[in-house]
Amino acid sequence: MSKITVVGAGNVGATCANVLAHADIFNEVVLIDIQGNMAKGKALDTWQQAPIDHYSTRITGGDDYALTADSDIVVITAGIPRKPGMSRDDLIATNAKIVVSVTKSILQYTPNPIIIVVSNPLDVMTYACWKASGLPESRVLGMAGVLDTARYRAFLAEALDVSPKDIQAMLMGGHGDTMVPLPRFTTVSGIPVSELIDAAALDAIIQRTKVGGGELVNLMGTSAWYAPGAAAAQMAISIIKDEKRVVPACVRLTGQYGVNDVFVGAPVKLGRQGIVNIIELKLDEAETALLHQSAGAVKEIVDVLDTMNLI
Ligand code: LAC
Repeated sequence: MSKITVVGAGNVGATCANVLAHADIFNEVVLIDIQGNMAKGKALDTWQQAPIDHYSTRITGGDDYALTADSDIVVITAGIPRKPGMSRDDLIATNAKIVVSVTKSILQYTPNPIIIVVSNPLDVMTYACWKASGLPESRVLGMAGVLDTARYRAFLAEALDVSPKDIQAMLMGGHGDTMVPLPRFTTVSGIPVSELIDAAALDAIIQRTKVGGGELVNLMGTSAWYAPGAAAAQMAISIIKDEKRVVPACVRLTGQYGVNDVFVGAPVKLGRQGIVNIIELKLDEAETALLHQSAGAVKEIVDVLDTMNLI
């Protein structure tokens, strides 16, 4: 038996739950939201899709955390997006309170879950969840790199007119404008991308990737959900199947890359116990400097959060 809970029945959470149901890998998906009927309704809608799209995964929803008991994995998407007039600190405080409260509610019914955080600001919320949970750092991770590399790969596929399937890429750092795409670790079916695209075009793609989330906010007036929901689902599937997939994820670095005690994106291997290990690439000086800059930006916000004494 395998069970996954998705907290937050907004666009990202509902998409994640729907993708998970379609994957037909978990026995059970539970969708939780403070708007219980919304979660219940979206779960019921997805269950009614099962006879059409042929899956057996049972999906239910509501606002009662008792439904989440004994989940193998929990995906936390709950939180609010920043609105005009709100300071960054307001957003951090609001979402940290939500993430901390969700984490505690989850632990009441599942003492040792693996938690994938999707709430923003991603790296800081992953830290908040880890700290509130008391779980080992191998069991709390954030979804950002799978989404950010997907955007990067999609832009490259378009520019090169090749299938997105054949683009492999790695990316590090925080989920924001300081993220660090790594062209040296980007290939098209094993061919270094630098052999197929000129430096200026590649740089334009990197810049577009860094603000990829913002591009969608500008288009839709709210943040994205199809790729973010699918990215979180892919990580959960890799964990439950013990696939040992190598992906970028937000993890607590404890000295790797010269970064200590900061949650930030790095390559990891995902298995049944969560993070099997963090892979240490030999970054060059420029790449290392960018990573340190990004980790520093995350740390600054974490320090603001710590002074609020919310956790
Ligand atoms: C984005 C949000 C989900 O990057 O963080 O679209």
